[in-house]
Amino acid sequence: MNEQQRKQASQIKQVDPTDIKSDQDSNLERIQSIDSDELIGKYFQATYEPPNMKKAKKRLKKDVDVHYDFSIPKEMQNIGKDKKFLIRTYGCQMNEHDTEVMAGLLTDMGYQSTDDTNEADVILLNTCAIRENAENKVFGEIGHLKPLKLEKPDLIIGVCGCMSQEESVVNRILQKHHFIDMIFGTHNIHRLPSLLKEAMFSKAMVMEVWSKEGDIIENLPKVRKGKIKGWVNIMYGCDKFCTYCIVPYTRGKERSRMPEDIIQEVRQLAAAGYKEITLLGQNVNAYGKDLEFEYGLGQLMEEISKIDIPRVRFTTSHPRDFDDRLIEVLAQGGNLLDHIHLPVQSGSSEVLRVMARRYTREEYLVLVDKIRKAMPNATLTTDIIVGFPNETDEQFEDTMTLMEEVGFESAYTYIYSPREGTPSAKWEDNIPMEVKKERLQRLNALVNKQSAEAMKKYEGQTVKVLVEGESKKNPDVLSGYTERNKLVNFKAPNSVIGKIIEVKIIKAKTWSLDGELVEKAVEVN
Ligand code: 5AD
Ligand code: SF4
Repeated sequence: MNEQQRKQASQIKQVDPTDIKSDQDSNLERIQSIDSDELIGKYFQATYEPPNMKKAKKRLKKDVDVHYDFSIPKEMQNIGKDKKFLIRTYGCQMNEHDTEVMAGLLTDMGYQSTDDTNEADVILLNTCAIRENAENKVFGEIGHLKPLKLEKPDLIIGVCGCMSQEESVVNRILQKHHFIDMIFGTHNIHRLPSLLKEAMFSKAMVMEVWSKEGDIIENLPKVRKGKIKGWVNIMYGCDKFCTYCIVPYTRGKERSRMPEDIIQEVRQLAAAGYKEITLLGQNVNAYGKDLEFEYGLGQLMEEISKIDIPRVRFTTSHPRDFDDRLIEVLAQGGNLLDHIHLPVQSGSSEVLRVMARRYTREEYLVLVDKIRKAMPNATLTTDIIVGFPNETDEQFEDTMTLMEEVGFESAYTYIYSPREGTPSAKWEDNIPMEVKKERLQRLNALVNKQSAEAMKKYEGQTVKVLVEGESKKNPDVLSGYTERNKLVNFKAPNSVIGKIIEVKIIKAKTWSLDGELVEKAVEVN
């Protein structure tokens, strides 16, 4: 823990469980009889260190401590016996993976997981702040949970993840949603056991949001969602500060895990029979920049390519940090897959400049060219924002032509959404919503066309599919993904689940492929 965190942690109210009524009545009393201003003053001041954008932006070049000695406080080790938890996850894979850590912590405290809100004793909302509609969904869910909390006052409801790092969100919860029991930030996940204890025994809403990045805690327990594909965090945070993006504030500065810790985790997953891993980070190619020795994603991937695990992916890349070493290592193939997700955001150099992406359209195209020369069959996918402040029709057309010129096989497309505290939120959001929607529709039509064309090429080909299980849409067929991340549906016995098998593609659709088994289902790697 660094000095700042120690100071903040010491401001957290220490609750003596014997001091406080924890029965249903006292909880109900808290929920029902509240005047918000009075309540903020009375209950929260002591525990509340608000998230602070200005502070978050001041990156201290102080070392990040790595801890290997995490343990669940003794008195919390059995507190979840005969109780259940439910975590709702919004947003990116980073959040999905944080949920696996929180599930690990709760399981080690004796809780069991459930999908039924009515059965749960603890409900956590692991939130996303990237766009306004992501936040609206969470506030909708908070509203749905209120009757349940009134019915079951001992239910603990917590809000965590990126939204809890935002001052405006925390204030809104404080003022309008008093029944929330705890709010904790993205740097406070390891504190879940202590915060939960506090929430159980306290009348007050428990809040702990460190506005600065935390240390790296290596030995947190995890309950992974599946046994076939696993996520491995390689770094946390982002230092890019694209002008529209909230992530550098909600996730803190870039912190890389030590290579040996990552390699050990990948080895463990391989030994446990996992077939695919995805190396995760907000900006994975900045991996190693903050380490005290020369080490980058290229070297890390080279080490990981020697591990006996069939498939290795990584996400998300920033074009600016995609260096030659990485391209060289990826080009060696093996278990390193040549599907590259490379968010471009816009095809206009001027828009890219105001987004502070630090590359031009031309530089992006040079990078794509290098990647294609080294990996002629690589699949490229991207993220695009339409309707950025002042984006002209011509600038949007530049995005359309770039989409075609690169030949992206798929893209996540978004309407620009101003995020409070980011530089672009101060600029007028001056593209009318109808124009934004029209641009999005045109772009999506092009994305669909390019995806369908890319899919068509697979008809008649035999591809390797990692079989994940029954198709979500049709339980009579199995589904899985190819090396280039195309979804394939086919009929086969359940015994092939978890294996990589050959499937012949019969019919291409816009977003998926229909196939049939090639002779016997023999596992191939
Ligand atoms: N508005 C719209 N889209 C955004 N993204 C990030 N911030 C915003 C925003 N304020 C998109 C980017 C990023 C993806 C994860 O979300 O395209 O790559
Ligand atoms: Fe956000 Fe990605 Fe830019 Fe970082 S690199 S600020 S996560 S868009």
